[in-house]
Amino acid sequence: MIQTITIIGGHSRSGQPEPVEHIEMKMGDVVSIVGPTGSGKTTLINDLELFADANTQTGRRMLVNGQRPPLEYRDNPAMNPIALITQHTTFLSDLPVLEFLTAHAGIRAVEKSQMDEMIQKTLAFANQLTGEPIVLSSRMTELSGGQTRALLIADAAIICNTPIVLLDEVENAGINRTLAVELLREYRKIFIFVTHDPRIVLLSDYRIVMQGGSIQKVLYTNEEERTFSRKVSKLDDLLSVMRDKIRSGERLTTHELEGLA
Ligand SMILES: Nc1ncnc2c1ncn2[C@@H]1O[C@H](COP(=O)(O)OP(=O)(O)O)[C@@H](O)[C@H]1O
Ligand SMILES: [Mg+2]
Repeated sequence: MIQTITIIGGHSRSGQPEPVEHIEMKMGDVVSIVGPTGSGKTTLINDLELFADANTQTGRRMLVNGQRPPLEYRDNPAMNPIALITQHTTFLSDLPVLEFLTAHAGIRAVEKSQMDEMIQKTLAFANQLTGEPIVLSSRMTELSGGQTRALLIADAAIICNTPIVLLDEVENAGINRTLAVELLREYRKIFIFVTHDPRIVLLSDYRIVMQGGSIQKVLYTNEEERTFSRKVSKLDDLLSVMRDKIRSGERLTTHELEGLA
């Protein structure tokens, strides 16, 4: 059983030692990785996915329960404890959703007797996250960006059931992010989001701040940030209503901002 993942710092792009030498992530943690473009966010995610052992460009090492991880994590797809969801996740096949999930469950060695239930659960979870319901007979390639993201998140949480889920830049994907974080929290995994979405960041336990290819600091979400996180969600909802109205050619009025107080 995985209890903790430890990041042991390496060096920045210019070869300086990383300011943060040690981060221990525990099961149940929701973590955001933040920093400007080019600061090394994706690279850190890749180090995690590869279980870097001083063998990548950053020199970082990852420990599982305080020890070097077993090789089978990398070598056996059914044993890999990490699911990675990126903006560029595409599907080589044009399978219907049902067959995609069945094939995936097969790779993850889900028992036959549990298959139907798992697939239904995954679909129900995905459909809570997206406004446009997915049906099992749709083809993977026909799904919208939001539907695809929702399905992959549900697949990672339920079918893959991996203890660690990495999500690289999932914002603007047309999914209910507050609900996503709240539901994912119940699964007691380590969720790591690369994001600047205030909604997700404020619901995270802490954020890892990247700069120049290195981990600059770790900021725990404080009391003040926690208390206004609801207001931020409301603001975000209002903005998306306005966006929809603009898109459909309507006028905006001051009414739009009511409820913000
Ligand atoms: N610690 C590091 N040492 C060397 N090169 C790095 C390091 N961190 C990032 N890089 C390189 O810097 C570039 C930008 O990093 P990337 O992770 O893509 O940034 P971001 O995802 O924040 O935009 C990439 O080419 C990456 O290989
Ligand atoms: Mg990136």
